[in-house]
Formats: sequence, structure tokens, C-alpha cells
Amino acid sequence: MEESITRIGVSLPKNLLKEFDSIISSRGYSSRSEAIRDAIRMYINEFKWLEKESGEVIGVVTVIYDHNYRGVTDTIISLQHDYNDVITTTMHIHLDGENCLEMINVKGDMAKIKKMVGRLTALKGVISVKFITAFKEDRF
Ligand code: NI
Repeated sequence: MEESITRIGVSLPKNLLKEFDSIISSRGYSSRSEAIRDAIRMYINEFKWLEKESGEVIGVVTVIYDHNYRGVTDTIISLQHDYNDVITTTMHIHLDGENCLEMINVKGDMAKIKKMVGRLTALKGVISVKFITAFKEDRF
């Protein structure tokens, strides 16, 4: 099925476009339009989950934390046990002397995953939490 195409005009600061062009050429895009389409798809995927309150979702939650912070490692582990029905796998990477990266693969109810993300974000000792969804459309 062929999608209908709409042309749009966009005003951009010169430097922003320069940086964009340099990245897309190093990534091998043959046209700017193709790269902009991909960028818009990425943007939609990145932010769509914020509006989605329920339903099935698949993705990965990344957590960077300071494992020297008292109790944080145990708290992160026990918190994941509370959400074992939406967690498929977890990978732990020791980044350096202090920092750890926990990659939590999730699949299941958005409301529940959002609750987990909120709890992780609120923990002391946690430096950053990101939730990347992998769905392209509403179905996967
Ligand atoms: Ni570690």
C-alpha cells in the first residue's frame, strides 16, 4: 500500500541544519527527506509513551545509579521483584568504580511500567532513568 506524501517547508537555524547534514551523511542517508522522516519517527516513538496511559508496550528502561549510595542496589532489586510480571530480563553493567547501568527489558501494561519508572526515578542514588519504547505503531 502506497502512503500519500505531503510536502512541508521547515525553517531551521543554519548550524542545526549543518550538524544534521553531517550526521546523516556519516550514517549513509541518500537524501535529507529520508533522514527527516526517520527523525520524525524517532521523535514520535520517543514521546508517544508519555501520552499512552494503558495498553501493551515493549521497551527498555535504563537506570544509571551510584552503587555506593547506601541501600540503592537492594532497593532497585526488590523493586524489580514487585514488577516481575512486566520485566522480561535485566542486564547489569558496572560502568566504573561507582556507577552501574541496569537495563531492564519490559513488556506489558503501560500503566504498570510507568509506575515502576516513576518509583525508580524517585530513588536516592539514582542518577538517570530513561524509558525507550520499541513499538512502531500501536501494535507489535
Ligand atoms: Ni555494578
